[in-house]
Amino acid sequence: MRRAVVRGTGHYLPERVVDNDFFAQTLDTSDEWIRSRTGIERRHFAADDQRTSDLAIAAARAALDNAGMQADQIDAIVLATSTPDFTFPSVATMVQAGLGMTRGFAFDVQAVCAGFVFALANADGLIRSGQADRVLVIGAETFSRIMDWTDRGTCVLFGDGAGAVVLEVADGDGSSDDRGILSTDLNSDGRYKDLLHVDGGVGSTGTAGVLRMQGNLVFRHAVEKLADTAHRALDKAGLDSDDVDWLVPHQANLRIISATAQKMQLPMEKVVLTVADHGNTSAASIPLALSVADRQGKFQEGDVVVAEGIGGGLSWGSVVLRW
Ligand code: ACO
Repeated sequence: MRRAVVRGTGHYLPERVVDNDFFAQTLDTSDEWIRSRTGIERRHFAADDQRTSDLAIAAARAALDNAGMQADQIDAIVLATSTPDFTFPSVATMVQAGLGMTRGFAFDVQAVCAGFVFALANADGLIRSGQADRVLVIGAETFSRIMDWTDRGTCVLFGDGAGAVVLEVADGDGSSDDRGILSTDLNSDGRYKDLLHVDGGVGSTGTAGVLRMQGNLVFRHAVEKLADTAHRALDKAGLDSDDVDWLVPHQANLRIISATAQKMQLPMEKVVLTVADHGNTSAASIPLALSVADRQGKFQEGDVVVAEGIGGGLSWGSVVLRW
């Protein structure tokens, strides 16, 4: 059976780091409020001349280096973003050109903060079905471009960045002992579209718009749906919470992450946390966390890693893989 195994990880964070006090200069907020309600201490913002594709290319290069591969060995790029440089072409094709790749195919996936999980599931499908042997999966965002800087309930939460993984086909026997992606679980419910949305776009206002969120409602859905999808994916893989070595959650809010870990009966020592340093980087948050944890030497071959995320749509899902 064809399995999609992680061969390399990489990430890129823009140079500019902004701490919580930055917001207290112009808004009625404080470092104490932001830390205690979200766990966020700082985030990175892209420079004016940096676009999502620039961040994505840097992360992609790092992941290829880490995998010991050249760009021309890659068959496909699947890139998750909600903050593309242009309405079209896709950021993925810009990355393809930026890496000097002249073969294969590239496309974007848009599932907001669940985007990387959706992209991984797509890449897994491409590898399993034999359409690709090596896939670069990227999450890249510049959410600083869609903030309402007068809204203290949203602008303090988000940051910019990019992360990438290289997946390669490997033979497995179809059991949960295989290395690679073991199961995926994807969900959306468009009835909740107004809870978290951007109030502009080509088909409505003709402008990019800014992010709007009913934070407390999103919070409640997140806690309920994230543990649920993780359990379903584990079940599909024939595993349960006891088998999990690492949970790599979407880094939106420390309280959501802790509540999800608690529902999954996982100690916080098994949870990868980057939210304090990155804030919420939407589709980039999971590959950023994977890459940072990989650099820290956290993952050992054979470890069971669960990635889960939720975002606008609402869309949510999870991936279970063996490192
Ligand atoms: N500083 C100070 N006060 C604030 C701030 C701030 N930055 N933001 C909101 N408040 C105030 C509100 O105005 C409100 O004041 P009021 O009572 O006078 O009206 C009060 O704090 C409580 O507001 P709530 O929204 O109920 O606060 P809550 O405890 O829920 O925390 C937060 C808000 C942090 C946004 C929380 O709801 C949350 O994290 N929700 C999930 C958001 C999220 O993670 N979204 C992303 C997930 S999906 C994705 O990643 C795209």
